[in-house]
Amino acid sequence: MPRILGIETSCDETSASVLSGTGDDVKLESLVILSQDVHKVFGGVVPEIASRAHLTSIVPVVSRALGDAGVTLDDVDAIAVTSAPGLIGALLVGVCYAKALAFARGIPVIGVHHMEGHLFATALEHPDAVPPFTGLLVSGGHTLLLDVEEWGKYRLLGGTRDDAAGEAFDKVAKLLGLPYPGGRPIETLAREGDPSRFRFTKPMVRRNDTAESADYYQFSFSGLKTAILNAVHDSEDLGSDKADIARGFQDALIGSLVEKTFRAADAFGRTRIVLGGGVACNSALVGAMQERVSEIGATVFAPRPRLATDNAAMIARAGLFHFERGERSDLDLNAFASQPIPGLIAA
Ligand code: KG4
Ligand code: ZN
Repeated sequence: MPRILGIETSCDETSASVLSGTGDDVKLESLVILSQDVHKVFGGVVPEIASRAHLTSIVPVVSRALGDAGVTLDDVDAIAVTSAPGLIGALLVGVCYAKALAFARGIPVIGVHHMEGHLFATALEHPDAVPPFTGLLVSGGHTLLLDVEEWGKYRLLGGTRDDAAGEAFDKVAKLLGLPYPGGRPIETLAREGDPSRFRFTKPMVRRNDTAESADYYQFSFSGLKTAILNAVHDSEDLGSDKADIARGFQDALIGSLVEKTFRAADAFGRTRIVLGGGVACNSALVGAMQERVSEIGATVFAPRPRLATDNAAMIARAGLFHFERGERSDLDLNAFASQPIPGLIAA
């Protein structure tokens, strides 16, 4: 049974993981995630600081992952590393380290697309979160709606025209004076909010939309963000309106995510919906999604927070898939800030 060491350094988490298995039958042997708290004081990730922090942590994080799994590099068959997309300096730390380790040990290295990793994350804890399914990936940098016929075959249905879903949470949190990252603070505050006070329009959802409409599966969150900005400016007592505004924002954003995902599942006859990315930690999203897709007899699978946010287990899992298909990267593997997800087929 192949054993993979996964490495993830695309943003502000230094992470390493060991897993082994074949096909969808895998065992997670260890997962270490070191989050760089330093960015909190800047209200966002500072790329140069992120790269330097990865440099300091990568060796101990990888050693710890191997130690927790009770293995050494001699027991590892391949190293999977996030090579795109992400912060270029941050990605390079992982890629250079993985290549050096692979070269020194004479084992293969496999570059993994970060978003393909997110797609595999849920399957690590839910054995049924496997293709065919409708996938919704919602993170700080990306919003992707995909139809997944089988692993490695992805139909990209929709993306965002402007801000990513997590980015919208983070920017609105800033407007409301909440800490970074803003997803969880908004979710907590929205729970106390009155849903009837601020009703914002669900972005890109029109009643007369048809599958032929250009925006049928597309997202856009910057208009909603402006609507929140106006509500904040117009508020005479932000302290008491804050929770209601947070609730109105979250309901509108979730409404859009749920409607588009429902359309995709319905159109392709999928009965499984797999969520991934940091925003998939939001329980209001998971609840609203389950309620809506129940109409077509579908089930929603969401990863627990540790696997929803950036982690190396999902990179190792996607790496195992490519390893088993005989795919390897060369030692000239490079990092790319942006790159389309591999395995795209015509929509
Ligand atoms: O996947 P992730 O860890 O990193 C990226 O690849 O971007 O996602 C981070 C994003 C942040 O924007 C954060 O605000 C959001 O996920 N997030 C949430 C929640 N927890 C994290 N958004 C909404 N509700 C949450 N509970
Ligand atoms: Zn991510």
